[in-house]
Amino acid sequence: MSETEVNKYRQPDYDIDPIFINRWSPRSFLEKEVPEKDLMSVFEAARWAPSSMNKQPWRFILARTNEDREKFHSFIMEGNLKWCETAPALAVIISKKEGGSHAFDTGTAWGYLALQAAQKGLATHAMGGFHKDKAREVLGIPEEYDLHAVIAIGYQGEKDQLTEDLQEREQPSDRRPVKESVMEGSFK
Ligand SMILES: Cc1cc2nc3c(=O)[nH]c(=O)nc-3n(C[C@H](O)[C@H](O)[C@H](O)COP(=O)(O)O)c2cc1C
Repeated sequence: MSETEVNKYRQPDYDIDPIFINRWSPRSFLEKEVPEKDLMSVFEAARWAPSSMNKQPWRFILARTNEDREKFHSFIMEGNLKWCETAPALAVIISKKEGGSHAFDTGTAWGYLALQAAQKGLATHAMGGFHKDKAREVLGIPEEYDLHAVIAIGYQGEKDQLTEDLQEREQPSDRRPVKESVMEGSFK
């Protein structure tokens, strides 16, 4: 979707870089491979996220081959599976449970990743709807890691590739005004 089209749905209250508005989470993905250097650049961006004590608690398990993607499909919930099967790359985001901020830090890394992807013309869509215990077992993830989200990465496809119910939702969402999130002086 072009910047002009996204602007029909999203208008910032204050001036920001257009990348923040242009990143959104579509469900229609083309069955088109992402070149290695573009795919790795999104993880490179995540690498440079700040973290408490620079512990970099995030880890990403990537699935690109049919065999690996099928393993992921086995633990993704039905509502997500019906659109994410065409995505050429899936990754599960996990964090090592050390210190008090591993989840916070890993969320930052995901944010960086998603913005870098948008900058490269790639779409990302995070999913909390997956069976974590099954994913842990299938991927052999040790207990000292928390599982946060599976993400789909690829090129945005056409809306009409989706089932009708999903076509209705295939557009950038809005946000509440910034003033409703920022409180000055004390909690209000
Ligand atoms: C941790 C997390 C879990 C999410 N889980 C799902 C999910 O299971 N299925 C889905 O379709 N979208 C999921 N989303 C996408 C959000 O619904 C989406 O980011 C939000 O509505 C804002 O829309 P935008 O990303 O297009 O700006 C998830 C996003 C995050 C960050």
